[in-house]
Amino acid sequence: NNPPWPAYRGYHEYSFAHATMQSRLPTILGKAIEDATRTLNSQSSEERVVDLVQCIDRMGDLMIDLSGNAKLRPIIDDDEADVALWNKEIAKYFQGKDFMNAPWLFAEAYKYRRLHEAFSISKFWRDYDVFYRQKCDTFSRSSDAVFELSLRFAEPFKINESLSPKEKLEAERLMFLELTQVCLWGNSTDLSLLINMTEDQIKSLQSTGGDSLAATEKNILGNDMHRLWDRVRQLREKTGGRIDFVLDNAGFELYCDCVYADFLIQSGLANQIRFHGKRYPWFVSDVTKKDWEWLLNTMVYGQLFPKASDAERESLRRLGLRWKQYEKEGKWVYEQHPFWCTGYTFWDLHSEAPDLFLHLSRSDLVIFKGDLNHRKLTYDCAAPASTQFEDAIGPMASSAGAPVIASLRTIKSDVVVGLGPQGDEISDELTKNEPGWKISGKYAVVLLSEGRPG
Ligand code: F6P
Ligand code: MG
Repeated sequence: NNPPWPAYRGYHEYSFAHATMQSRLPTILGKAIEDATRTLNSQSSEERVVDLVQCIDRMGDLMIDLSGNAKLRPIIDDDEADVALWNKEIAKYFQGKDFMNAPWLFAEAYKYRRLHEAFSISKFWRDYDVFYRQKCDTFSRSSDAVFELSLRFAEPFKINESLSPKEKLEAERLMFLELTQVCLWGNSTDLSLLINMTEDQIKSLQSTGGDSLAATEKNILGNDMHRLWDRVRQLREKTGGRIDFVLDNAGFELYCDCVYADFLIQSGLANQIRFHGKRYPWFVSDVTKKDWEWLLNTMVYGQLFPKASDAERESLRRLGLRWKQYEKEGKWVYEQHPFWCTGYTFWDLHSEAPDLFLHLSRSDLVIFKGDLNHRKLTYDCAAPASTQFEDAIGPMASSAGAPVIASLRTIKSDVVVGLGPQGDEISDELTKNEPGWKISGKYAVVLLSEGRPG
């Protein structure tokens, strides 16, 4: 049950797979070792220090394996809910494979699993997150865009009552389209690509502003946003419209996701939002439960933005309080299924995690955020850009019970599909004129699959 196109692998020098496996991953791991060393230097208890030194040594072993292109060994049984899935996949498909000749998607995920293993078999450091400092720090440097959104959306969303029903619907449509873009472009600040970003670089990536909306829409190369609205507006008639977010990054992107989800609840388009995060640190900036809690608590109680005005601080606090209330009322639910931290693509979701598939099939819309989720949906393979999204995601579109799926993704890696019948020419043209277009995050896709009734 595989697509007809080859998956990208580390030895494909023409692809981003090569640069990632060869240099990005060792750099990321090096930074992770620095972080753990910083923590080590602040510890006092001998037991904890010795335990952490062992974690750092294991990270060192991983560095040797990664840079020496070692064969992929099984994951040590650390009682994680996903360990059996990992070792099953390794035994079935990747025996004897190394970091460079295994599919990129798998090898990269495997690296993050081994990094977790360095801590998960320790006594005191099981839940240590080597990326946590970075995630918090980047959010604290995003103040302009954070307050731009909080000042606008702290006040509950209300449509002018004097408008006719048609005008009301139009106002709502425009808001939906704008916030879909806010949610989409929130994905361009991803820490795995933006190590050492300056304040100005963050700012330019996070401009959420009204005037630029039409301009940024031009960069959505496969754009099903308007079809998505048609789908979502029908939800209000249903009792119990449920929308799921398969989350990507913590901090600013998660904040944008929540602004969007807040609107979906307030407008009555959805009654419940379910957020799916990761069980442990993943691809540097992905959301864990701790990141989720940190965001909400820092909004309400934090002192992250010393230069903020009272009005700014208050707007953020009000938003945070409302979101916490949604959680209390069960309107927002945070979940973390083990499958999200495996090396499987979503072509295998229905067979390897049938409970999760069934759970998602009960949703009215599942929004997959970001580049990695998009790679997983599309098997991370060299499909032509004109390939229809439904064909590219295989069983996630064609299996009985497949939910309606939207992928909101800024393009940060090789696989690009869903650009329409002229897609191959568009892609060739961009490759000729803007060689880095597939990794810059300047372009995006919003693609929709209608699903299949069970
Ligand atoms: O390492 C490559 C990658 O998986 C790319 O897909 C992307 O550059 C990044 O890491 C993750 O991006 P995102 O956070 O949007 O999934
Ligand atoms: Mg990510």
